[in-house]
Amino acid sequence: MQIDIVSLFPALCKGVLSESVIGRAWKEGIVNINLVDLRDYTHDARKTVDDKPYGGGAGMVLRPEPLFECLQDLRTPDAHVVLMTPQGTPFNQPTARRFATMSHLILVCGHYEGVDERVRQCLMDEELSIGDYVLTNGAIAASVVTDAVVRLLPGALGNDESSEEESFGNEPLLEYPQFTRPVDYKGMKVPEVLLSGNHQEVDAWRLEQRVLRTVSRRPDLL
Ligand code: ADE
Repeated sequence: MQIDIVSLFPALCKGVLSESVIGRAWKEGIVNINLVDLRDYTHDARKTVDDKPYGGGAGMVLRPEPLFECLQDLRTPDAHVVLMTPQGTPFNQPTARRFATMSHLILVCGHYEGVDERVRQCLMDEELSIGDYVLTNGAIAASVVTDAVVRLLPGALGNDESSEEESFGNEPLLEYPQFTRPVDYKGMKVPEVLLSGNHQEVDAWRLEQRVLRTVSRRPDLL
């Protein structure tokens, strides 16, 4: 899979995505991540990417020209182009799974007060938010989306890190509580059922815990 991330802070994404599972998948060629600096598509000495909004108001808006030129360069017939913005639809696991089936994703990071509306209208297939809060720039949001997508690609996770039995896997239930050694830590004991060796009872307990957790923490998922 090819993922292009267009931003003003490519080094920010590089740090996050070069480590751990995603770093390994990148090195092994399971994904190729191309970090594109939007300033490379400017033509003035100061590499200007933004300007004041027409109509007045605070903040700066990303100008259309660098983004139009950049996407002309990057776009392929299979490319799916996504703008990261707090005004987008909420990113979730079904969207991560949908993206993981694509061959070419282009994530465009907004900045300042936003991007010129013509960019949204002409260049974007979709607009995504990673949550109801405002980040300083979309590079962090694009890194989050890239992480969630790449870990789903075949071969990205080891056998002991499977993505099948997890919260937001196939059922909309949170994960059950996990315990490891020691069996008694400062008087806090591992539930008996997990020590019983009875797999049916363990499975039933885990399902019950998943439902209880989801009801108390995330009733909106049910
Ligand atoms: N850019 C700034 N805040 C964001 C958010 N919550 N989601 C996506 N992109 C963003």
